[in-house]
Amino acid sequence: MQFGHFDDANREYVITQPDTPLPWINYLGCQAYFGLISNTAGGYSFYRDARLRRISRYRYNNVPFDFGGRYIYVRDNQSSEFWSPSWQPTRNQVDKYSCRHGMGYSIIGSEYKGIEARTRYFVPLDENLEIWQLTVTNHRQTSASLSIFSSIEFCLWDAQDDSTNFQRNFSIGQVEIEDGVIYHKTEYRERRDHFAYFACSAKTAGFDTQRESFVGPYRGWDKPAVVERGESANSVAHGWAPIGSHHVKLDLKPGESQQIIFVLGYHENPVAEKFDPPDSQTVNKKTVKPVIAKYLKAANADAAFDRLRAYWDELLSICQVETPDIHTNRMVNIWNAYQCMATFNMSRSASFYESGIGRGLGFRDSNQDLLGFVHMVPSRARERILDLASTQLPTGGAYHQYQPLTKRGNNDVGGNFNDDPHWLIIGVSAYIKETGDWSILDEPVPYDNEPGSEKPLYEHLQRSFQYTLDRLGPHGLPLIGRADWNDCLNLNCFSDTPGQSFQTTTNKEGKTAESVFIAGLFVLAGQELAAIAEHRCHKDEAKRYRAEAKKMDETIHQHGWDGEWFIRAYDDFGKKVGSSECTEGKIFIEPQGFCVLAGVGLEDGLAQKALDSTRKHLATKHGIVLQQPAYSRYYLHLGEISSYPPGYKENAGIFCHNNPWVMIAEAKVGNGDNAHDYYSRINPSAREAISDLHRCEPYVYSQMIAGKDAPTHGEAKNSWLTGTAAWNYYAIVQQILGIQTSLDGLQIAPVIPTSWKGFKATRKYRGVTYRIEIERQGKGNKIALTVDGKKLEGNTVPVPVNGTKEISVRGILS
Ligand code: BGC
Ligand code: NOJ
Repeated sequence: MQFGHFDDANREYVITQPDTPLPWINYLGCQAYFGLISNTAGGYSFYRDARLRRISRYRYNNVPFDFGGRYIYVRDNQSSEFWSPSWQPTRNQVDKYSCRHGMGYSIIGSEYKGIEARTRYFVPLDENLEIWQLTVTNHRQTSASLSIFSSIEFCLWDAQDDSTNFQRNFSIGQVEIEDGVIYHKTEYRERRDHFAYFACSAKTAGFDTQRESFVGPYRGWDKPAVVERGESANSVAHGWAPIGSHHVKLDLKPGESQQIIFVLGYHENPVAEKFDPPDSQTVNKKTVKPVIAKYLKAANADAAFDRLRAYWDELLSICQVETPDIHTNRMVNIWNAYQCMATFNMSRSASFYESGIGRGLGFRDSNQDLLGFVHMVPSRARERILDLASTQLPTGGAYHQYQPLTKRGNNDVGGNFNDDPHWLIIGVSAYIKETGDWSILDEPVPYDNEPGSEKPLYEHLQRSFQYTLDRLGPHGLPLIGRADWNDCLNLNCFSDTPGQSFQTTTNKEGKTAESVFIAGLFVLAGQELAAIAEHRCHKDEAKRYRAEAKKMDETIHQHGWDGEWFIRAYDDFGKKVGSSECTEGKIFIEPQGFCVLAGVGLEDGLAQKALDSTRKHLATKHGIVLQQPAYSRYYLHLGEISSYPPGYKENAGIFCHNNPWVMIAEAKVGNGDNAHDYYSRINPSAREAISDLHRCEPYVYSQMIAGKDAPTHGEAKNSWLTGTAAWNYYAIVQQILGIQTSLDGLQIAPVIPTSWKGFKATRKYRGVTYRIEIERQGKGNKIALTVDGKKLEGNTVPVPVNGTKEISVRGILS
């Protein structure tokens, strides 16, 4: 069952039924001002940091699920009936409902008794504000006399404090109202020099800024007293809950349409010019007024929207493919790339399942996110890399997370996740492969943000690598620390106290438990770093990295192989995890995927064996589960992984992030059929027809799909913010379609399904447009390339040096 459909030409998903199984959301903004918006206009906004600069309030885990949003009410003044064109919050039956989620915008609306109202929500590029363009049309035969009410509930900035510290917060709310613009200025009187504003293009008949006056005592947003009455209370918030609401009266002739624009924004003033007059307590509005005036004009709002569209056209045009599979095309060309922008911006901080309060930007997460993002805006990838590296510790280890606003490592969570440092090598390598910008390695970058500790980025990579060499365990495998990629495999935790964090509790010394996953990652990072070192003419160093990687490869062969698959880890007792010797958790996906993608066992058949075992024991029609058998009870020595009921999350859920590792591994052993088959199993577009089971958005990946041990096998959870986005993008584009970035140029090495006759692609790379056409003539993966008609030796297309801006690459697969 579906709840809408793709409109590929417009790059939109069109939801045609408001009561989707879960809120189906979109992101507004892609630079500094961000919003989340559901298909019924739920969601919230923030400036840069979802915790520290929250602009509007959202009620997580509410009943109904999705509550708090950018709500508009329409009231028919002849009948006194009122409704929400976005269905929520009034939830009246409406006709012709649709929500079009597009690239950085959503258009939500419906018709009710001949009155159509649709709102286009978006954040203009380079501005810290969002525009709600509401168009109301009268399809009746008679005139309509309507009232429009806008509404937004302000957050008192720090979202954590806002939802806990009521004894203070109920007394601090402050607003100003001037020329119909509502200014939310809580705490502006003291240490904040920023405020929010909510403006309206039409002449207002009234306003409200105090929640209780608007909704009425013992009422909710579904039935606000003001809307019911048809008249604002003109309330001025002093304390309690500041909101913004405008009342606009609208008389529409039959067939007439009118537009009203609302602008919700964030503004900062220079500290010395906060007030106007200077010795008053009144917000200085001089610098913000022109911005407001600009976007209240329809022509300017339209122009900003067109610019946003053009921006996305440009971004997406960097990589476009035409394959025989519509789901591949749609995801690569539109939605997967789009999701990669969201994961890059948010890391794992703000979604409908990440509160924006708990986690900042993850070190490993953000580095991996670069894989799917770096080709779109390399300059921002560069900045991110330098920010991440600045939180690295002098030991080479890293803070697990940092706050985007302060860019400081998060002390509460700390470090000692022993995979973290290697992801920096992977991220930097991806950046150089894309851009050829070697200068990034010379950038001075501090450790732990400590002024004076700056060293070239290259040295950070050296320390990342060394970090593992300094922390090898009894078998010569890397010690796991608090956890590796799998945050829930906590082998040094041994927590028997409810509520303790599995990630930060460490009751063991940590000198025994080892990770085969990190070993695989180390092998990969070693090769990447060696290649970088070689390019920098550090021949001996490169040799050493390769030798260490090789040694680790041998150690994996010796101590990380179980007979039919790779072992997952050694626990604190030195016992195997993920081995046939175990009673549960005999085989794990991570080392199969990652060791093989790093090249371990490719020559001696172990890789193939590991993949066969994966297929046999872990593959389901909804994707590949994380391990088998699922843990049926809590194991003190394994930690959080065994805290989940079987089939969910890390306990044998289909943890989508690591499925692409197996796809890549399949591509490495040359099996394009398997690779693409796995790709299709979790491709959200390919699952659209089972939306009632899948439940999450069919246009983006979710973190998890319930595994075969779960009663809800096939049900997705935690949509949007997941490493799945970047890795699937990388797997399909670089490894299956084989359009690979390398230090020396674009490499073409497709491993596509045998049934495909070929495919076409356009890739803009280092200033040159590559028009690629691959034709299958045989069943294998051997490629013969011609570039502009000339035969090419090997498969790396050199970047043209003669100023050529476009080249044609043809490949014959045999
Ligand atoms: C989640 C992980 C997460 C960890 C730490 C676990 O419940 O499954 O994905 O990294 O918590 O927050
Ligand atoms: C989500 C976390 O953000 C990521 O860092 C981790 O690798 C996976 N969960 C697996 O635990």
